[in-house]
Amino acid sequence: MGPVRESISKGVVSPLRTVPKGIARPDYVGKKRTARWGGGDVHTAEAIERIRISAKIAAQALAEVGKNVAPGVTTDELDRIGHEFILDNGAYPSTLGYPGAAGRPPFPKSLCTSVNEVICHGIPDSTVIQDGDIVKVDITAYKNSMHGDNCGSFIAGEGTDRSRKLVEATHEAMMRGIRAAQAGREVNVIGRVIEKYASRFGFESVQNYTGHGVGPAFHTGLVIPHYDAAPDHADVIEPGMVFTVEPMLVDGSEASQEWNDGWTVVTNSSAWVAQFEHTIVITESGPEVLTLP
Ligand code: MF3
Ligand code: CO
Ligand code: CO
Repeated sequence: MGPVRESISKGVVSPLRTVPKGIARPDYVGKKRTARWGGGDVHTAEAIERIRISAKIAAQALAEVGKNVAPGVTTDELDRIGHEFILDNGAYPSTLGYPGAAGRPPFPKSLCTSVNEVICHGIPDSTVIQDGDIVKVDITAYKNSMHGDNCGSFIAGEGTDRSRKLVEATHEAMMRGIRAAQAGREVNVIGRVIEKYASRFGFESVQNYTGHGVGPAFHTGLVIPHYDAAPDHADVIEPGMVFTVEPMLVDGSEASQEWNDGWTVVTNSSAWVAQFEHTIVITESGPEVLTLP
């Protein structure tokens, strides 16, 4: 592997991509903020079947984009590939036009690309992927009034022993968190398991960005921490609940800041980060992953 890049900086964001008239948009598109979801996080079997469809499209899109992560490819090109894949499946890319914090612009692209020290919410732009980069791709699809949300980490080229360990441990941390999500337990069990596993390798789990209820809203209001938040976040897990588990592990301190673009979150020390995310449903017999291709 050649020398790794010093640090990530802002590139040029391409013009807005269009969405055909026939594809239904989520209600927040074109609004200053998202409406609060008041319908809870336990869904009917019929609603879960619709979430399953969106989750599958999101997972297929993630696999397609992931195949294209390679040195020399821009993150904007990854956005084009994901955007077209989602539209081709009759879905809307949920991040496109998602409202930002007060006074900040909406998210301008159809997926998030977060490279190396970028924790999350990286905006696809003219940034050229280099050999050894860790590229997190986060894709959400909206169809039949339901969102399905997932993220994966892809190393361009071989990476280093440490970057591969970070990616592998983050995936395993997510899977352990998912397996802990059993009906009757508090949601804070999930982060407890994730943080404990991360600490074995000296990795820190990001606290400021969390998993969330998902389905009829992109973010329903239910928060799933990826650290040991007990006695807070004591919501009891129930059959029929749908939410994400999406740990971000840092090879160093998880302290972070946001760029003035209103979105991009980076580690203060420029320590590198990996993330995985699944949308899951809780059944009587345990958690089931919905974001599978
Ligand atoms: N998909 C992200 C999540 O896992 C949210 C991205 S919102 C965006 O919750 F506006 F930054 F795209
Ligand atoms: Co999410
Ligand atoms: Co996501």
